[in-house]
Amino acid sequence: MNTAHRFSYNHSMDNLSYAIRGPIFDKAQEIIRQGHEVIQLNIGNPAPFGFDVSDEMIAAMATRLRSAQGYSHHFGVEEAREAVAAHMQQSGVRSAGSEHILLGNGVSELILMTMQALLNKGDEVLVPSPDYPLWTAAVGLAGGKAVHYICDEKSDWNPDVKDIASKISDRTKAIVIINPNNPTGAVYEKSVLQKILNLASRHGLIVLSDEIYDKIVYDGARHYPIASLDHDTLVLTYGGLSKNYMAAGFRAGWVAFTGNISAASDFMENINLLASMRLCANVPGQYVIPAALTGYQHIHDYVAPGGRLHEQMNTAYELLTAIPGIRCVKPKGALYLFPEIDLRQFGLENDEDFAYRLLEEKHILLVPGSGFNAMDNRHFRVVFLPETELLRKAAEGMAALLENYSVKNLMLEAL
Ligand SMILES: Cc1ncc(COP(=O)(O)O)c(C=O)c1O
Repeated sequence: MNTAHRFSYNHSMDNLSYAIRGPIFDKAQEIIRQGHEVIQLNIGNPAPFGFDVSDEMIAAMATRLRSAQGYSHHFGVEEAREAVAAHMQQSGVRSAGSEHILLGNGVSELILMTMQALLNKGDEVLVPSPDYPLWTAAVGLAGGKAVHYICDEKSDWNPDVKDIASKISDRTKAIVIINPNNPTGAVYEKSVLQKILNLASRHGLIVLSDEIYDKIVYDGARHYPIASLDHDTLVLTYGGLSKNYMAAGFRAGWVAFTGNISAASDFMENINLLASMRLCANVPGQYVIPAALTGYQHIHDYVAPGGRLHEQMNTAYELLTAIPGIRCVKPKGALYLFPEIDLRQFGLENDEDFAYRLLEEKHILLVPGSGFNAMDNRHFRVVFLPETELLRKAAEGMAALLENYSVKNLMLEAL
């Protein structure tokens, strides 16, 4: 064997990361291999927690499997694209049309494609902080620069529009919003969305709106698709089956192009080229889309008072905020809490220090806020998909760990 060679690789990826399956996740796998149980509150994957896709969706895939053997059109099968268009029209996006809907292997693939089609080296994209980290990584991967704007905890994590405006430069190409938000659970106010559209229109920017959690809203919160508001700019709206329909493994997602499409013909050509080069999205997954969008919407029961997600969100919120030194804005949507921890009280260095100690000492896995490009290092994200009993066990573990650190810290300070 020739050991003299080292194979070279793409160094532009050196600074990219995806913390949800990053080093702390690897550490958890090591602990599991040693024979320990780890409470996993790190990933928004509904199926392992007993959230099943509907029987109609399973039947749709089973009955169409034989006709799903070949590649489909690169934009996706017509019946699925029509179902997405109708679904968007019903939620207020009047101009949604099947000819401008692209199906992908989940929203993830479509985010990567968008950035590749849009960015030249050094182009800037305004990305929320904190964000779902694929957005930042996708900008970097395409040679662009993610410029983070503030989502303000003091205003229920709504985007700070003044901060966005102050960060627009002549290299800015697009504004990303995630609504409902991962990781903060925010659901954006209509007036904020309108201001973002006005900014985009004034500066000729594209709006990229990740609305994958659009049906997961609690306690009367209302989600407004940004594309449903008045605008004359290009809006890309991303959605899919992974969360609202519990089908993350089916890898079925879409992006809808609405608004000023005619001014973006070169960009649309790039999208067309990228879509055709990857041939098509997973076809069995595409055939599930009409059944999901036109069938019974089980998600409404999960998020209503008494529903499983609603109760788990409340339990997690109450248990965590009862721990001295933890504060949290109550989520209005999505599947996550994004609490703040008083590091000084516990003598902890930062969010990673906390997350690693919690994993090593209590076998509880969560993701530190810095993994979501948060501007401080005092937050962490908790997934509330597990049953309340498991959430309770996790909260007890966290409370015990922090009490221990609080006492140790007091003793150290007293010395
Ligand atoms: C905000 C957000 N966008 C996109 C995705 C990826 O979704 P998909 O499974 O459709 O690739 C996730 C997954 O957690 C997410 O939270």
